[in-house]
Amino acid sequence: MALREIVLVPDPVLRRKANKVTTFDKSFQQLVDDMIETMRAAPGVGLAAPQVGISQRLLVMEFGDEEDEEAPKKLFVFVNPEIVKSSEEKVTGVEACLSVPGMAGEVERHQTLVVKGLNRFGKPVKHKLEGWTARIFQHENDHLDGVLFTDRATKVWQPSEEEIENIHD
Ligand code: NI
Repeated sequence: MALREIVLVPDPVLRRKANKVTTFDKSFQQLVDDMIETMRAAPGVGLAAPQVGISQRLLVMEFGDEEDEEAPKKLFVFVNPEIVKSSEEKVTGVEACLSVPGMAGEVERHQTLVVKGLNRFGKPVKHKLEGWTARIFQHENDHLDGVLFTDRATKVWQPSEEEIENIHD
């Protein structure tokens, strides 16, 4: 495994609509492993392939339980993800992005989602996501369409060091 360099704005790859993944070969598996490692090292709770300069519809997320800090983190790998259903209920939360350093913003997201896609080996998967996990998914899925959180934020600011520690990336 190897760390990949995280692409920053205004790199055009962050604004491109990413291509569907069609091959699940060795080099794709390498990319998935590298993205997981890069996300953990950042550290971040999610990473989309365009953020490492690869215009493909792949995202990884890893997040623990909101209520229970001791609970093990859950890792998700989504290939060609799609939102099947989204709740009418929306929640506002503070987001940041590894590709948009030094910025934070308030973004409204659906509270719950049903999502489908493929796993890293090309097998279909379907999940119900809620709360922060749903938020992270919407943030990362936007990256696959060239959308950044700053496009959706109602308020964007430069957070203080202390504030940064409390923001879920
Ligand atoms: Ni991001």
